[in-house]
Amino acid sequence: PDDAAKPVLVLVHAFPLGAQMWEPQFRGAFYGWRLLAPDLRGFGGSTDDRAEGESPTIDDYADDVAGLIRELGGARPVVLAGLSMGGYVALAVMRRTPGLVRALVLADTRAGADSLEGRAGRKALLTVLEHDGPQGVAREMMPKLLGATTRETNGDVEETVRLLIKRQSPAGIRDAILRMMERPDSQALLATITVPTLVVVGDEDTLTPPAESEAMAAALPQASLVRIAGAGHLANLEQGQAFEASVDDFLSGLPA
Ligand code: MLT
Repeated sequence: PDDAAKPVLVLVHAFPLGAQMWEPQFRGAFYGWRLLAPDLRGFGGSTDDRAEGESPTIDDYADDVAGLIRELGGARPVVLAGLSMGGYVALAVMRRTPGLVRALVLADTRAGADSLEGRAGRKALLTVLEHDGPQGVAREMMPKLLGATTRETNGDVEETVRLLIKRQSPAGIRDAILRMMERPDSQALLATITVPTLVVVGDEDTLTPPAESEAMAAALPQASLVRIAGAGHLANLEQGQAFEASVDDFLSGLPA
């Protein structure tokens, strides 16, 4: 089909990476679909043009994604996929502009807000960022982003992820931390999400463990859950083919 007629899949990236983390999926996955993978504001060299003195919120990201869907998403609602922070954004889109979305993929993410412990971790990460920049953030996050299997057997993925983090701007990373820290709890929202939803999680994800995904899938009216063996938090990079196969299956099962 020509490009404009293709159904659209929007891929929203994790923290602290940019849209480039979806590069493997751009090499021929999801045949027949048009892929849109935005850099959230402040990532991938993009600017954050919120008004002076305005606090950053997750809704900034959600409204940017909604704007992109309105502009480039074609005539019908899109399939929206988000991994981790991208999932937080996808849930914010479902809270604010659900009519733009006809199906949802929530990968390695959670519906709850940050716990007290989580918030303390964010503050510690802000300090690391201030002292050591994105490189320090990469060092700090790496063991949490990748599963044990990847860390033991796939140094290339580790190198890719390190590069993807190092090229992000300190301001973009800082604002993302603040946005995640202040994001609202979305657990009550789940029951209102009536579009088909795929929940995917790496078996070795310790940052948003499989139990979180099981709870989300149970609370969503129309969800299926896939666990990906040998993957940690960044399932699309760690086990690309299995990740793509699970999404592909889901896409093929959607009403035409
Ligand atoms: C992400 O992978 O997007 C983040 O690490 C999620 C988080 O820190 O809550």
